[in-house]
Amino acid sequence: MSARKITVVGAGHVGATAAQRIAEKELAREVVMIDIAEGIPQGKGLDQWESAPIEGFDSRVTGSQSYDAAADSEIFVVTAGIARKPGMSRDDLLKTNAGIVASVSKEIARVAPDSIIIMVSNPLDVMCYVAMQASGFPRERVMGMAGILDTARYRSFIALELDVSVEDIQALVLGGHGDTMVPLLSTTSVSGIPLTHFLDEDRIEALIERTRKGGAEIVAHLKTGSAYYAPSAGAVQMVEAIVKHKRRILPCAAYLEGEYGHEGLFLGVPCKLGEGGLLEIVELELSEAEASALASSAEAVRDTMAALE
Ligand code: NAI
Ligand code: 2OP
Repeated sequence: MSARKITVVGAGHVGATAAQRIAEKELAREVVMIDIAEGIPQGKGLDQWESAPIEGFDSRVTGSQSYDAAADSEIFVVTAGIARKPGMSRDDLLKTNAGIVASVSKEIARVAPDSIIIMVSNPLDVMCYVAMQASGFPRERVMGMAGILDTARYRSFIALELDVSVEDIQALVLGGHGDTMVPLLSTTSVSGIPLTHFLDEDRIEALIERTRKGGAEIVAHLKTGSAYYAPSAGAVQMVEAIVKHKRRILPCAAYLEGEYGHEGLFLGVPCKLGEGGLLEIVELELSEAEASALASSAEAVRDTMAALE
């Protein structure tokens, strides 16, 4: 199964890498990149298309400044905006990216009113909200990618620590995409064996702390921007779940209408993704400590929403 057309808005680090992954997995017949930077989406699109004979994919990759090229796309991955530099928090990006995401979302609603938006731009949870407002789309068709990335970082750190395959680490990181994210220890296991069997509390806390600061750790190395290999992989995992009707349960930012005791904001929760986008939010029973951590995370997202207003 594949889509006819998928568009990535923002042909920068995350966007171009996401487009390449979508094409290499042949998730769409046409992959379009849109960017305001003259020539960048065209050049990157052509370069990626020229890799098709080597990599063996037939997804046609193109780039444009015009949304007409994105007309009737089934899915939009939105990465447009500015990224973090050293010393900047995700919230420092707020006002600039909100303006960009609002205008991009209006264009999406104009050229593809039945499409699905997967938001990546930061601050993630609030940008999802801006996109939902500006597009007028229902919550089933606006989601954010962050939990998959945060969970992947956590899983990768646990695998390193235990010297086991990443494939055997199951975990869920919920909450907002920021320092208040909530790794759920109760769902963290190694092939079903609780993590607490392998590691003591201090080591687990150190891995959780590294996960919380995972984005900043990459920024500190790169200095000129933020992570993009793992983020693009996370966004494309959501695309794949939708396009292939997989009904995967993945941690994504979804608009809450009372789930987990919160409403009127986007927050990272386990979501069932398949045909049409968000099929269901899975409500887990949380411990008192986990519920309280999730409430603090929701509060942090609300603070950022308030700063925008
Ligand atoms: P980048 O700077 O490499 O690319 C951003 C692109 O957006 C640029 O090519 C720029 O020309 C384009 N752009 C700016 N305004 C635009 C507009 N109005 N319409 C179309 N394109 C526009 O940045 P990068 O590294 O690709 O990051 C993109 C965004 O994703 C940032 O906000 C970053 O913080 C966020 N991010 C989110 C993650 C998550 O887990 N949700 C993880 C990594 C990055
Ligand atoms: C990250 O977590 C900056 O949100 C981006 O890498």
